[in-house]
Amino acid sequence: MTTELHRQQTSAPTKAASGTTVYAGAISSSTDLGGQQLGYLEELLDQPTTRFIGDVAAREGQRCLDLGAGRGSIARWLAGRTAPTGRVTAVDIEDTHIDVPPAVRVYRHDVNEGLPDKGPFDVIHTRLLLVHLKRRRELLAQLIDALAPGGWLVIGEFTHPRTDPVTG
Ligand SMILES: C[S@@+](CC[C@H](N)C(=O)[O-])C[C@H]1O[C@@H](n2cnc3c(N)ncnc32)[C@H](O)[C@@H]1O
Repeated sequence: MTTELHRQQTSAPTKAASGTTVYAGAISSSTDLGGQQLGYLEELLDQPTTRFIGDVAAREGQRCLDLGAGRGSIARWLAGRTAPTGRVTAVDIEDTHIDVPPAVRVYRHDVNEGLPDKGPFDVIHTRLLLVHLKRRRELLAQLIDALAPGGWLVIGEFTHPRTDPVTG
């Protein structure tokens, strides 16, 4: 399995002095530096993401999916919000850095192959993932199909010119 993220940015991987693999300006998410980079994204984006989702959803007992979960901060937050009867699934092609409680079901999975859990979900969140995927339109259709009636699909991507980074 190869991440689309890596494939798109891999032309000539090189080893930095620290031993970290650097992919032509991007960093493999499996490395320590990749984990650090995911941490910065959480610091920057978790507050607006949780504010937005918390306003409309993530209630006790709801079923949630976090796609491209990274270090797992949003899956953890969803697990706390929906406990004790909710169900949270986290999916990422790389699980080196994911840190979630045992109640969160984790799939190490390439979403180019489809969803490992078809739901239905009351909340589907995916942040900074779709932009990297060539087949994002097909995946988007699958995500919509996996929504429960009245469910929320929350997609966070950077846009240009800059607008609210967590709505789309
Ligand atoms: C830019 S990071 C964003 C992480 C997290 N969503 C966040 O915003 O903090 C993109 C994440 O998507 C994962 N990813 C990239 N390609 C993937 C694929 N084809 N299938 C599943 N996960 C993938 C990466 O491993 C990484 O954790």
